[in-house]
Amino acid sequence: MTDLDDVRSLRATDASDMLGVVARLPLDARAGYDAGLAVDPVPIIDGITAVTYAGMGGSAVAGDILRSLFRDRLGVPVEVNRGPQLPAYCGPSTLLIASSYSGNTAETLAAFEEATARGCRVMALTSGGQLGHRASQLGVPVVGVPGGYMPRAALGHLAFGLLGALEAAGLLPRLAADVDEAVDEMARLITELAPEVPTTANPAKTIAATLGERTAVIWGAEGFAAVAAQRWRTQWNENAKLPAFAAAMPELDHNEVVGWSRGTGKHFGVVALRHDGEHEEIAARFAASLEIPAEAGAEIVEVQASGRAPLAQLCSLIVLGDLSATYTGLARGVDPSPIEAIDRLKAAIGGPA
Ligand code: F6R
Repeated sequence: MTDLDDVRSLRATDASDMLGVVARLPLDARAGYDAGLAVDPVPIIDGITAVTYAGMGGSAVAGDILRSLFRDRLGVPVEVNRGPQLPAYCGPSTLLIASSYSGNTAETLAAFEEATARGCRVMALTSGGQLGHRASQLGVPVVGVPGGYMPRAALGHLAFGLLGALEAAGLLPRLAADVDEAVDEMARLITELAPEVPTTANPAKTIAATLGERTAVIWGAEGFAAVAAQRWRTQWNENAKLPAFAAAMPELDHNEVVGWSRGTGKHFGVVALRHDGEHEEIAARFAASLEIPAEAGAEIVEVQASGRAPLAQLCSLIVLGDLSATYTGLARGVDPSPIEAIDRLKAAIGGPA
């Protein structure tokens, strides 16, 4: 176990500097947005009837962000496709965005090739690898992201690169003010939640200390908070090396709540990710819904998004989750960065990691 207020031990356990990488998120977001705006050639969106975003794991999150934040403003549906096969509708009037940080993920490469064969408008988001190679062979738009990151930690480049490129294409409105606010909000939180800030004044360390070895169950309202909840889950898996689960309100009121029967909660912590843009009917359900796992013995933690626009609020939840998960891993004495199980599976399936 590592004492979260012993900064020297934290740094020693964090051998690959996940804390430092998370702290770069605001700068990465800014650089990603600029790279996206400069995409060349610009994706052609005239006449498209759907956007399909193909990616896995850390590279898929940018697609969820796009889907959840712009659903109320886009005239076309956005689907995130996490697998090698594309839906039947994908064809010449689909914009297919293939996103693989490494450029070597089998499922994403298969979706990219399938999209190309079907005549989709294709665009890639990658640091290189086979996807980068194929995209430049075909002359399709590529938003390049820098190498050297764990894919999940490259979210600033991937998500903001995607937003910039779709703004350049004319699919999204001008986002400069929203991006500025999100970058500032993330930078403010990075300072507030820094390793030097003691647990008593540091909400990310407090969450790590409160949950400890309890299994995290993350709740967020359908929309961008549900996307944040999934990000918390996967960061808990990969940075803290623990099982974790996520669910969306109000759907969980129709199933999960029944599972929190007497005595089942004692090894769990339920974290509710709240924001002030929740639909009023969903907001009104939270208190009564949280009472159910509380009565079952679960620890309950409620956190509130900060910032004004939805992009900043989502980013605030992501920064808090990334750092809480990283501190949870460090408190357990594990290096948050390596992902041996994923590497082993990729090697077993074949192809470079
Ligand atoms: C690793 C991670 C993984 C990868 C996934 C796909 O940090 O988060 O979920 O993102 O295995 O690999 P890429 O992103 O290279 O296509």
